[in-house]
Amino acid sequence: MLTLSPKAPFLYKPQNPNPKTQHYKPQTNGTYCKSELQSERGLEFETGETFFRHESAKGRDLGVLAASLYNQSKGKLRVLDALCGCGIRSLRYLMEAKADFVLANDANDEHRRVILDNLKRVDRGFGDERKWVVTHLDANRLLSECYLQKDFFDLIDIDSFGSDISLFLRSAMNTLSFDGLLYVTSTDGHSSGGHHPDHTLAAYGAYVRPMPFSNEVGLRMLIGGAVREASVLGYYITPLFSYYSYHGPVFRVMLRVNRGKLLENRHYGFITYCNKCGDSQEFSWAELGQISCSCNGSHDSSALVISGPLWIGPLHSAAYISEMINLAGEWGWIGNGAETDLEKLLKQMLDESDPRLKSGYIKMDEVASRAKINSPPLRTMMSAMQKEGYATSRSHIALNAIKTDCPMSECIRIAKELQGVNSFAV
Ligand SMILES: C[S@@+](CC[C@H](N)C(=O)[O-])C[C@H]1O[C@@H](n2cnc3c(N)ncnc32)[C@H](O)[C@@H]1O
Ligand SMILES: [Zn+2]
Repeated sequence: MLTLSPKAPFLYKPQNPNPKTQHYKPQTNGTYCKSELQSERGLEFETGETFFRHESAKGRDLGVLAASLYNQSKGKLRVLDALCGCGIRSLRYLMEAKADFVLANDANDEHRRVILDNLKRVDRGFGDERKWVVTHLDANRLLSECYLQKDFFDLIDIDSFGSDISLFLRSAMNTLSFDGLLYVTSTDGHSSGGHHPDHTLAAYGAYVRPMPFSNEVGLRMLIGGAVREASVLGYYITPLFSYYSYHGPVFRVMLRVNRGKLLENRHYGFITYCNKCGDSQEFSWAELGQISCSCNGSHDSSALVISGPLWIGPLHSAAYISEMINLAGEWGWIGNGAETDLEKLLKQMLDESDPRLKSGYIKMDEVASRAKINSPPLRTMMSAMQKEGYATSRSHIALNAIKTDCPMSECIRIAKELQGVNSFAV
């Protein structure tokens, strides 16, 4: 059980502050709210001077649904909200997912009053019955303290900035219960866009280059980084859902962490994109020396772009997303006639879970531009592709894009046929 005192003196000023994790103080970037009463899913709370985004509500909904499913299946739920801001997640884990205990932490002790005021609506309790505690530690220090005290958590939520998540992964995995859930966040759009390959190599162990589906690469880079950390500890991870949101941008992934090895590095490999023909492929480690594109664009060294190692498996578990949909329906969050954003997102995630779909997505604008035609409507294109036996799904990441196992050359042919253009005409 946790015995940390929220006021332990060593918690406040680390001897060697890591310059990468010194984002505690409010910055003037417009997302630090002035104190006002907010409401989310009917819960009222204050934000004070903390970093808070309304747009992250869907990410919080997803976290609460997963937490509640865990509680329902295991009959227990201890949550560590490592970068809690104003404490809205902690409040929601307590009130909606009925967590037995939540440790709400934010390194900035100036947030203390706001967090306490927000959590006060849940009776704090005493001793072993204590429902929540607020601390102000660097997340890594807190996670390590908990691990050393054998104080394990069923769900650890790390809502960090930039690529800081890579600093917390190992200590978080150490502090997770058997079969526990790790909810991780990155907001590092430059890295996913392939603009800092040396940085992505340092943070996630992956060399990432620019690709047209970079926002999906951002999710795969984050999961891949977790695969690497997990394997060091003798664990493997399963992504339950992966969520990209353009504000930020924000990449969020819910991972289940288990003891054991990822079989034969399955789902941890390389993704290529050929600038010449527009096709993308996945390659395993064993195929490293044989990477090429069937269009022979690989003979032009600038044509074939390779990123990896990345997660190349499914972004979500279909069975898990179905459970989330059922629970969201029971709670009246979805299924009331008018399709909510959450409902749309969960349905798209379910479609994206088809294991036949390749990594990445094909943008209709790129198909049209390569085919030199006007783009056929997305739905028409998808049904034509399905008729030819290809798997298709919309992407929750990009509006006018298709996830598929269909090569770009075939997409171009199908699009031309739909527009009544002879494929062989130049
Ligand atoms: C993105 S905000 C959290 C938002 C909150 N989770 C929500 O849903 O509204 C990140 C928070 O992490 C805190 N923080 C930054 N670096 C930290 C670290 N190394 N350890 C603990 N907290 C940190 C900041 O003070 C900030 O409040
Ligand atoms: Zn090619």
